[in-house]
Amino acid sequence: METLIPIINRLQEVFLTVGSEIIQLPQIVVVGSQSSGKSSVLESLVGRDFLPRGSGIVTRRPLVLQLVTVPPLEERRKQDNGNSLRAFLFAQIFTDFSEIRKEIEEETDRCTNNKGISPEPINLKIYSPNVLSLTLVDLPGITKVPVGDQPEDIETQVREMILSYISNPNSLILCVSPANSDLATSDALKLAREVDADGRRTLLVVSKLDLMDAGTDALEVLLGRIIPVRLGIIGVVNRSQHDLNTQKSLADSCKDEQVFLQRHYPSLASRCGSRYLARTLSRLLMHHIRDCLPELKTRVTVLTAQYQSRLNSCGQPVEDQSATLLQIVTKFAADYCNTIEGTARHIQTSELCGGARICY
Ligand code: GDP
Ligand code: NA
Ligand code: MG
Repeated sequence: METLIPIINRLQEVFLTVGSEIIQLPQIVVVGSQSSGKSSVLESLVGRDFLPRGSGIVTRRPLVLQLVTVPPLEERRKQDNGNSLRAFLFAQIFTDFSEIRKEIEEETDRCTNNKGISPEPINLKIYSPNVLSLTLVDLPGITKVPVGDQPEDIETQVREMILSYISNPNSLILCVSPANSDLATSDALKLAREVDADGRRTLLVVSKLDLMDAGTDALEVLLGRIIPVRLGIIGVVNRSQHDLNTQKSLADSCKDEQVFLQRHYPSLASRCGSRYLARTLSRLLMHHIRDCLPELKTRVTVLTAQYQSRLNSCGQPVEDQSATLLQIVTKFAADYCNTIEGTARHIQTSELCGGARICY
Protein backbone atom coordinates (compact mmCIF):
# COMPACT_ATOMS: atom_id res chain seq x y z
CA MET A 1 0.00 0.00 0.00
CA GLU A 2 2.88 2.35 0.81
CA THR A 3 3.80 2.20 -2.88
CA LEU A 4 0.66 4.13 -3.85
CA ILE A 5 2.25 7.45 -2.95
CA PRO A 6 5.13 7.29 -5.46
CA ILE A 7 2.53 6.25 -8.04
CA ILE A 8 0.45 9.34 -7.26
CA ASN A 9 3.60 11.43 -7.54
CA ARG A 10 4.37 9.89 -10.93
CA LEU A 11 0.79 10.53 -12.10
CA GLN A 12 1.25 14.11 -10.98
CA GLU A 13 4.28 14.36 -13.24
CA VAL A 14 2.27 12.91 -16.12
CA PHE A 15 -0.49 15.46 -15.61
CA LEU A 16 2.06 18.26 -15.50
CA THR A 17 3.67 16.95 -18.69
CA VAL A 18 0.41 17.04 -20.61
CA GLY A 19 -0.32 20.49 -19.20
CA SER A 20 -3.38 19.42 -17.26
CA GLU A 21 -4.50 20.60 -13.85
CA ILE A 22 -2.42 19.09 -11.03
CA ILE A 23 -3.90 16.32 -8.90
CA GLN A 24 -4.47 17.42 -5.34
CA LEU A 25 -2.45 15.05 -3.18
CA PRO A 26 -4.25 13.68 -0.15
CA GLN A 27 -3.01 15.47 2.91
CA ILE A 28 -3.59 15.44 6.64
CA VAL A 29 -4.67 18.72 8.19
CA VAL A 30 -4.58 19.31 11.96
CA VAL A 31 -7.38 21.39 13.39
CA GLY A 32 -8.00 22.40 16.98
CA SER A 33 -8.27 25.21 19.42
CA GLN A 34 -5.17 27.13 20.40
CA SER A 35 -2.70 25.10 22.48
CA SER A 36 -4.72 21.90 22.15
CA GLY A 37 -1.48 20.17 21.12
CA LYS A 38 -1.63 20.23 17.30
CA SER A 39 2.04 20.98 16.72
CA SER A 40 3.01 18.44 19.39
CA VAL A 41 0.93 15.74 17.65
CA LEU A 42 2.57 16.50 14.31
CA GLU A 43 6.02 16.33 15.86
CA SER A 44 5.37 12.94 17.35
CA LEU A 45 4.12 11.75 13.93
CA VAL A 46 7.34 12.92 12.30
CA GLY A 47 9.43 11.62 15.19
CA ARG A 48 11.52 14.79 15.31
CA ASP A 49 11.67 18.01 17.30
CA PHE A 50 11.42 20.75 14.77
CA LEU A 51 8.14 22.63 15.17
CA PRO A 52 7.68 25.79 17.18
CA ARG A 53 5.29 24.91 20.04
CA GLY A 54 4.18 26.36 23.33
CA SER A 55 1.39 28.18 25.06
CA GLY A 56 -0.40 30.99 23.22
CA ILE A 57 -0.50 31.47 19.45
CA VAL A 58 2.75 29.97 18.21
CA THR A 59 1.70 28.61 14.82
CA ARG A 60 0.69 31.69 12.87
CA ARG A 61 1.02 30.60 9.25
CA PRO A 62 -0.02 27.32 7.62
CA LEU A 63 2.89 24.91 7.47
CA VAL A 64 2.70 22.40 4.64
CA LEU A 65 4.91 19.54 5.61
CA GLN A 66 5.74 16.90 3.05
CA LEU A 67 7.34 13.79 4.52
CA VAL A 68 9.28 11.57 2.17
CA THR A 69 10.53 8.13 3.17
CA VAL A 70 14.09 7.48 2.01
CA PRO A 71 16.29 4.40 2.59
CA PRO A 72 18.31 4.34 5.84
CA LEU A 73 21.65 6.06 6.11
CA GLU A 74 23.76 2.93 5.62
CA GLU A 75 22.19 2.18 2.25
CA ARG A 76 22.27 5.78 1.16
CA ARG A 77 25.90 6.32 2.11
CA LYS A 78 26.79 4.07 -0.76
CA GLN A 79 24.52 6.02 -3.09
CA ASP A 80 25.04 9.66 -2.19
CA ASN A 81 28.36 9.97 -0.39
CA GLY A 82 26.85 10.32 3.05
CA ASN A 83 24.63 13.28 2.25
CA SER A 84 22.15 11.94 4.75
CA LEU A 85 19.02 13.27 6.38
CA ARG A 86 17.93 16.40 4.61
CA ALA A 87 15.18 18.83 5.04
CA PHE A 88 14.58 21.37 2.31
CA LEU A 89 13.12 24.65 3.41
CA PHE A 90 12.92 27.61 1.05
CA ALA A 91 15.49 25.83 -1.11
CA GLN A 92 17.89 25.69 1.82
CA ILE A 93 19.10 22.32 3.05
CA PHE A 94 19.02 21.61 6.77
CA THR A 95 20.41 18.60 8.55
CA ASP A 96 19.85 19.98 12.04
CA PHE A 97 16.23 19.94 13.09
CA SER A 98 16.54 22.73 15.64
CA GLU A 99 17.73 24.95 12.78
CA ILE A 100 14.46 24.16 11.02
CA ARG A 101 12.44 25.37 13.98
CA LYS A 102 14.39 28.63 14.00
CA GLU A 103 13.84 29.05 10.29
CA ILE A 104 10.08 28.42 10.62
CA GLU A 105 9.93 30.99 13.41
CA GLU A 106 11.84 33.57 11.38
CA GLU A 107 9.82 32.82 8.26
CA THR A 108 6.62 33.25 10.31
CA ASP A 109 7.81 36.66 11.49
CA ARG A 110 8.77 37.70 7.96
CA CYS A 111 5.09 37.61 6.93
CA THR A 112 3.39 38.58 10.19
CA ASN A 113 3.80 41.12 12.94
CA ASN A 114 3.21 40.88 16.70
CA LYS A 115 1.09 37.68 16.99
CA GLY A 116 -0.59 38.41 13.63
CA ILE A 117 -1.48 35.54 11.31
CA SER A 118 -1.00 35.04 7.56
CA PRO A 119 -2.59 32.59 5.15
CA GLU A 120 0.69 32.44 3.17
CA PRO A 121 1.90 28.85 3.68
CA ILE A 122 5.43 27.78 4.62
CA ASN A 123 6.45 24.74 2.58
CA LEU A 124 8.73 22.19 4.14
CA LYS A 125 9.89 18.85 2.77
CA ILE A 126 11.48 16.31 5.07
CA TYR A 127 13.46 13.34 3.79
CA SER A 128 14.04 10.66 6.39
CA PRO A 129 14.02 6.88 6.78
CA ASN A 130 11.99 7.36 9.98
CA VAL A 131 8.85 8.89 8.51
CA LEU A 132 5.88 7.55 6.63
CA SER A 133 5.26 9.29 3.33
CA LEU A 134 2.61 11.80 4.30
CA THR A 135 1.74 15.44 3.65
CA LEU A 136 0.76 17.21 6.85
CA VAL A 137 -0.57 20.71 7.35
CA ASP A 138 -0.12 22.51 10.67
CA LEU A 139 -2.50 25.41 11.14
CA PRO A 140 -2.97 28.23 13.62
CA GLY A 141 -5.37 27.31 16.39
CA ILE A 142 -8.96 28.44 16.68
CA THR A 143 -8.99 31.49 18.89
CA LYS A 144 -11.71 33.89 20.04
CA VAL A 145 -10.13 36.98 21.57
CA PRO A 146 -7.58 39.06 19.61
CA VAL A 147 -4.21 39.63 21.35
CA GLY A 148 -1.21 41.77 20.32
CA ASP A 149 -1.63 43.15 16.81
CA GLN A 150 -4.25 40.59 15.91
CA PRO A 151 -7.20 41.97 13.97
CA GLU A 152 -10.66 42.17 15.55
CA ASP A 153 -11.83 39.43 13.21
CA ILE A 154 -9.04 36.97 14.12
CA GLU A 155 -11.59 34.25 14.80
CA THR A 156 -13.12 34.60 11.32
CA GLN A 157 -9.69 34.80 9.68
CA VAL A 158 -8.43 31.61 11.33
CA ARG A 159 -11.74 29.87 10.61
CA GLU A 160 -11.50 30.75 6.93
CA MET A 161 -7.87 29.66 6.75
CA ILE A 162 -8.79 26.31 8.31
CA LEU A 163 -11.84 25.89 6.06
CA SER A 164 -9.74 26.58 2.96
CA TYR A 165 -7.59 23.54 3.83
CA ILE A 166 -10.20 21.14 5.20
CA SER A 167 -12.85 21.82 2.54
CA ASN A 168 -10.50 20.20 0.05
CA PRO A 169 -12.12 16.77 -0.35
CA ASN A 170 -8.62 15.30 -0.55
CA SER A 171 -7.84 16.35 3.03
CA LEU A 172 -8.05 14.04 6.02
CA ILE A 173 -9.06 16.15 9.00
CA LEU A 174 -7.20 15.45 12.22
CA CYS A 175 -9.17 17.15 15.00
CA VAL A 176 -7.14 17.66 18.16
CA SER A 177 -9.18 18.19 21.33
CA PRO A 178 -7.67 18.27 24.82
CA ALA A 179 -9.07 15.68 27.24
CA ASN A 180 -9.37 18.34 29.93
CA SER A 181 -12.02 20.30 28.08
CA ASP A 182 -15.54 19.26 27.12
CA LEU A 183 -15.62 17.42 23.81
CA ALA A 184 -19.11 18.74 23.10
CA THR A 185 -17.60 22.24 22.82
CA SER A 186 -14.85 21.13 20.44
CA ASP A 187 -14.49 23.85 17.80
CA ALA A 188 -12.40 21.49 15.73
CA LEU A 189 -15.14 18.88 15.46
CA LYS A 190 -17.70 21.59 14.70
CA LEU A 191 -15.59 22.95 11.83
CA ALA A 192 -14.94 19.45 10.51
CA ARG A 193 -18.68 18.73 10.47
CA GLU A 194 -19.22 21.80 8.29
CA VAL A 195 -17.16 20.34 5.47
CA ASP A 196 -17.44 16.62 6.25
CA ALA A 197 -20.97 16.11 7.53
CA ASP A 198 -20.91 12.32 7.47
CA GLY A 199 -17.42 12.10 8.95
CA ARG A 200 -15.79 10.14 6.13
CA ARG A 201 -12.48 11.96 6.52
CA THR A 202 -12.43 13.15 10.13
CA LEU A 203 -10.33 11.53 12.86
CA LEU A 204 -10.30 12.66 16.48
CA VAL A 205 -7.15 12.88 18.60
CA VAL A 206 -7.76 13.39 22.31
CA SER A 207 -4.62 15.05 23.70
CA LYS A 208 -3.53 15.82 27.27
CA LEU A 209 -4.90 12.56 28.75
CA ASP A 210 -2.42 13.20 31.57
CA LEU A 211 -3.99 16.51 32.51
CA MET A 212 -7.46 15.36 33.49
CA ASP A 213 -8.90 16.23 36.88
CA ALA A 214 -8.37 13.61 39.57
CA GLY A 215 -11.22 11.15 39.57
CA THR A 216 -12.07 11.65 35.88
CA ASP A 217 -10.94 9.75 32.83
CA ALA A 218 -11.54 9.83 29.09
CA LEU A 219 -12.76 6.26 28.73
CA GLU A 220 -16.28 7.18 27.59
CA VAL A 221 -14.87 9.72 25.14
CA LEU A 222 -12.29 7.28 23.77
CA LEU A 223 -14.95 4.59 23.33
CA GLY A 224 -16.98 7.03 21.23
CA ARG A 225 -19.89 7.03 23.63
CA ILE A 226 -19.95 10.83 23.98
CA ILE A 227 -19.46 11.77 20.32
CA PRO A 228 -18.93 8.97 17.82
CA VAL A 229 -16.27 9.63 15.19
CA ARG A 230 -16.46 7.32 12.25
CA LEU A 231 -12.76 7.00 11.49
CA GLY A 232 -11.81 6.65 15.13
CA ILE A 233 -10.82 8.38 18.36
CA ILE A 234 -7.21 8.07 19.50
CA GLY A 235 -5.95 9.27 22.88
CA VAL A 236 -2.38 10.58 23.20
CA VAL A 237 -0.01 12.04 25.76
CA ASN A 238 2.40 14.60 24.34
CA ARG A 239 5.19 16.35 26.19
CA SER A 240 4.13 18.98 28.69
CA GLN A 241 5.58 22.48 28.70
CA HIS A 242 7.88 21.33 31.50
CA ASP A 243 9.03 18.40 29.35
CA LEU A 244 9.80 20.84 26.52
CA ASN A 245 11.68 23.17 28.86
CA THR A 246 13.79 20.29 30.17
CA GLN A 247 14.30 18.97 26.61
CA LYS A 248 12.73 15.58 27.16
CA SER A 249 13.30 13.51 24.03
CA LEU A 250 10.48 12.31 21.81
CA ALA A 251 11.63 8.72 22.32
CA ASP A 252 11.35 9.03 26.10
CA SER A 253 7.99 10.74 25.72
CA CYS A 254 6.75 7.89 23.54
CA LYS A 255 7.87 5.30 26.12
CA ASP A 256 6.26 7.20 28.98
CA GLU A 257 3.10 7.56 26.93
CA GLN A 258 2.88 3.78 26.57
CA VAL A 259 3.43 3.30 30.31
CA PHE A 260 0.72 5.87 31.06
CA LEU A 261 -1.75 4.21 28.69
CA GLN A 262 -1.04 0.73 30.08
CA ARG A 263 -1.64 1.99 33.61
CA HIS A 264 -4.74 4.14 33.02
CA TYR A 265 -6.39 2.61 29.94
CA PRO A 266 -5.20 -1.04 29.80
CA SER A 267 -8.11 -2.14 27.62
CA LEU A 268 -7.45 0.61 25.06
CA ALA A 269 -3.65 0.89 25.24
CA SER A 270 -3.12 -0.98 21.97
CA ARG A 271 -5.49 1.39 20.15
CA CYS A 272 -4.10 4.62 21.58
CA GLY A 273 -0.83 6.53 21.55
CA SER A 274 1.30 8.35 19.02
CA ARG A 275 2.60 5.28 17.25
CA TYR A 276 -0.88 3.85 16.75
CA LEU A 277 -1.97 7.26 15.46
CA ALA A 278 0.82 7.23 12.87
CA ARG A 279 -0.18 3.76 11.68
CA THR A 280 -3.86 4.69 11.51
CA LEU A 281 -3.15 7.83 9.52
CA SER A 282 -1.01 5.99 7.07
CA ARG A 283 -3.74 3.39 6.56
CA LEU A 284 -6.43 6.06 6.12
CA LEU A 285 -4.28 7.92 3.64
CA MET A 286 -3.84 4.79 1.56
CA HIS A 287 -7.58 4.19 1.54
CA HIS A 288 -8.09 7.77 0.52
CA ILE A 289 -5.66 7.53 -2.38
CA ARG A 290 -7.23 4.24 -3.41
CA ASP A 291 -10.64 5.95 -3.47
CA CYS A 292 -9.24 8.72 -5.65
CA LEU A 293 -7.80 6.34 -8.22
CA PRO A 294 -10.95 5.68 -10.29
CA GLU A 295 -11.33 9.40 -10.96
CA LEU A 296 -7.66 9.74 -11.82
CA LYS A 297 -8.01 6.75 -14.11
CA THR A 298 -10.95 8.38 -15.89
CA ARG A 299 -8.96 11.55 -16.41
CA VAL A 300 -5.99 9.65 -17.79
CA THR A 301 -8.30 7.67 -20.11
CA VAL A 302 -9.93 10.84 -21.42
CA LEU A 303 -6.55 12.44 -22.02
CA THR A 304 -5.23 9.30 -23.70
CA ALA A 305 -8.26 9.28 -26.03
CA GLN A 306 -7.75 12.97 -26.83
CA TYR A 307 -4.11 12.51 -27.69
CA GLN A 308 -4.79 9.30 -29.60
CA SER A 309 -7.27 11.07 -31.83
CA ARG A 310 -4.87 13.93 -32.36
CA LEU A 311 -2.21 11.37 -33.24
CA ASN A 312 -4.58 9.57 -35.64
CA SER A 313 -5.27 12.83 -37.43
CA CYS A 314 -1.55 12.95 -38.25
CA GLY A 315 -1.87 9.87 -40.49
CA GLN A 316 -0.23 6.44 -40.48
CA PRO A 317 2.54 5.75 -37.99
CA VAL A 318 6.04 5.99 -39.42
CA GLU A 319 8.04 2.84 -38.78
CA ASP A 320 10.93 2.71 -41.24
CA GLN A 321 11.86 6.31 -41.94
CA SER A 322 13.91 5.75 -45.10
CA ALA A 323 11.26 3.41 -46.53
CA THR A 324 8.58 5.98 -45.73
CA LEU A 325 10.58 8.77 -47.33
CA LEU A 326 11.06 6.62 -50.42
CA GLN A 327 7.31 5.96 -50.51
CA ILE A 328 6.52 9.64 -50.28
CA VAL A 329 8.99 10.52 -53.03
CA THR A 330 7.67 7.73 -55.25
CA LYS A 331 4.08 8.79 -54.65
CA PHE A 332 4.96 12.41 -55.34
CA ALA A 333 6.79 11.49 -58.49
CA ALA A 334 3.86 9.34 -59.70
CA ASP A 335 1.38 12.12 -58.95
CA TYR A 336 3.62 14.66 -60.64
CA CYS A 337 3.93 12.50 -63.76
CA ASN A 338 0.19 11.97 -63.88
CA THR A 339 -0.40 15.69 -63.58
CA ILE A 340 2.17 16.54 -66.23
CA GLU A 341 0.80 13.85 -68.49
CA GLY A 342 -2.69 15.12 -67.93
CA THR A 343 -1.60 18.66 -68.69
CA ALA A 344 0.30 17.52 -71.73
CA ARG A 345 -2.67 15.58 -73.02
CA HIS A 346 -4.89 18.53 -72.37
CA ILE A 347 -2.54 20.81 -74.19
CA GLN A 348 -2.13 18.35 -77.01
CA THR A 349 -5.87 18.28 -77.33
CA SER A 350 -6.10 22.01 -77.34
CA GLU A 351 -3.15 22.03 -79.72
CA LEU A 352 -5.21 19.97 -82.12
CA CYS A 353 -8.07 22.35 -81.66
CA GLY A 354 -6.30 25.65 -81.48
CA GLY A 355 -2.83 25.09 -82.87
CA ALA A 356 -0.75 26.13 -79.81
CA ARG A 357 2.58 24.46 -79.11
CA ILE A 358 4.08 23.31 -75.90
CA CYS A 359 7.58 22.16 -75.01
CA TYR A 360 8.66 20.35 -71.84
P1 GDP B 1 -0.96 23.93 19.46
O1 GDP B 1 -1.08 25.38 19.80
O2 GDP B 1 -2.28 23.29 19.30
O3 GDP B 1 -0.06 23.69 18.29
O4 GDP B 1 -0.31 23.23 20.75
P2 GDP B 1 1.22 22.91 21.08
O5 GDP B 1 1.62 21.62 20.49
O6 GDP B 1 2.03 24.11 20.77
O7 GDP B 1 1.10 22.65 22.65
C1 GDP B 1 0.65 23.67 23.52
C2 GDP B 1 1.16 23.40 24.93
O8 GDP B 1 0.50 22.24 25.45
C3 GDP B 1 2.64 23.10 24.98
O9 GDP B 1 3.17 23.70 26.12
C4 GDP B 1 2.72 21.58 25.12
O10 GDP B 1 3.83 21.17 25.85
C5 GDP B 1 1.42 21.27 25.88
N1 GDP B 1 0.88 19.94 25.56
C6 GDP B 1 0.48 19.50 24.34
N2 GDP B 1 0.00 18.25 24.40
C7 GDP B 1 0.10 17.87 25.70
C8 GDP B 1 -0.21 16.66 26.42
O11 GDP B 1 -0.70 15.65 25.86
N3 GDP B 1 0.04 16.65 27.77
C9 GDP B 1 0.58 17.74 28.40
N4 GDP B 1 0.79 17.64 29.72
N5 GDP B 1 0.87 18.88 27.77
C10 GDP B 1 0.66 18.96 26.44
NA1 NA C 1 0.03 26.91 21.17
MG1 MG D 1 0.76 24.97 16.92
